[in-house]
Amino acid sequence: MPSEKIVPSSDLYAISSSTVRTPDESPRPVRVTARDVSVFYGAKQALFDVSIDIPEKAVTAFIGPSGCGKSTFLRCLNRMNDTIEDCRVNGRIELDGQNIYDAALDVVELRARVGMVFQKPNPFPKSIYENVAYGPRIHGLAKNKAELDAIVEASLHKASLWSEVKDRLNEPGTGLSGGQQQRLCIARAIAVSPEVILMDEPCSALDPIATAKIEELIDELKQNFTIVIVTHSMQQAARVSQRTAFFHLGNLVEEGPTDMIFTSPGEKRTQDYITGRFG
Ligand SMILES: Nc1ncnc2c1ncn2[C@@H]1O[C@H](COP(=O)(O)OP(=O)(O)O)[C@@H](O)[C@H]1O
Ligand SMILES: [Mg+2]
Repeated sequence: MPSEKIVPSSDLYAISSSTVRTPDESPRPVRVTARDVSVFYGAKQALFDVSIDIPEKAVTAFIGPSGCGKSTFLRCLNRMNDTIEDCRVNGRIELDGQNIYDAALDVVELRARVGMVFQKPNPFPKSIYENVAYGPRIHGLAKNKAELDAIVEASLHKASLWSEVKDRLNEPGTGLSGGQQQRLCIARAIAVSPEVILMDEPCSALDPIATAKIEELIDELKQNFTIVIVTHSMQQAARVSQRTAFFHLGNLVEEGPTDMIFTSPGEKRTQDYITGRFG
């Protein structure tokens, strides 16, 4: 783990090099470290030297106007950009001190350790059970059917979906409501015991009630997982996150404890954004 601290000096909460502070919690160990990450799509540069420390068992929110690079940076964290032709990532990203861009690293395993939930719920065209069982099966996490059943049940519980689906596990996942489908996708991510869960605007296709349920769930999940959420809603960032990073035109302008970013940001651009001067 590098010892230098990249959290900007405006971060009054940070107390030591390998932990970062969240407003309501004691200092948290850093799980993911990014240093000078730049991303290019062909000749066009989309991200410029992004450096950030992401603490474990807390929610970090990425905010900023559309097109500023939030999704691009999120995809760097589990190498989803590898799947985009012409996309090139420079810099260094470590998960628990391990370089995730190491050529020897198994990307499939990385994506189990760093799971992802997308904007539009995307359950497989399979049963509710199979959606959750798929990952544990391909990763060999269950020795037999009983163990697999237990993983499926536990994952659906953790995703606050069990009581709603326990009598219809063999029905198609696509038959659920939008909010239920998104919780199914979260259960699917949880089923392989990830360390980090990335969520790219997970509520943007949902109604307010379904959104509130997901936000409640995110709050519970942070007890066991490190969560990074992209959101275009500052209210959502303020409600669910402990740390917030503000992106603008491909730059990480500043990041810090969420209450500080929203009440006393260090940068004028952040102030202008959170007060609605552009967006
Ligand atoms: N697959 C892609 N190919 C080319 N350019 C892309 C691709 N994805 C994103 N971009 C560009 O990269 C910049 C950042 O986009 P994105 O990360 O999607 O922003 P955000 O998630 O903040 O809205 C934008 O200029 C966008 O047009
Ligand atoms: Mg996006």
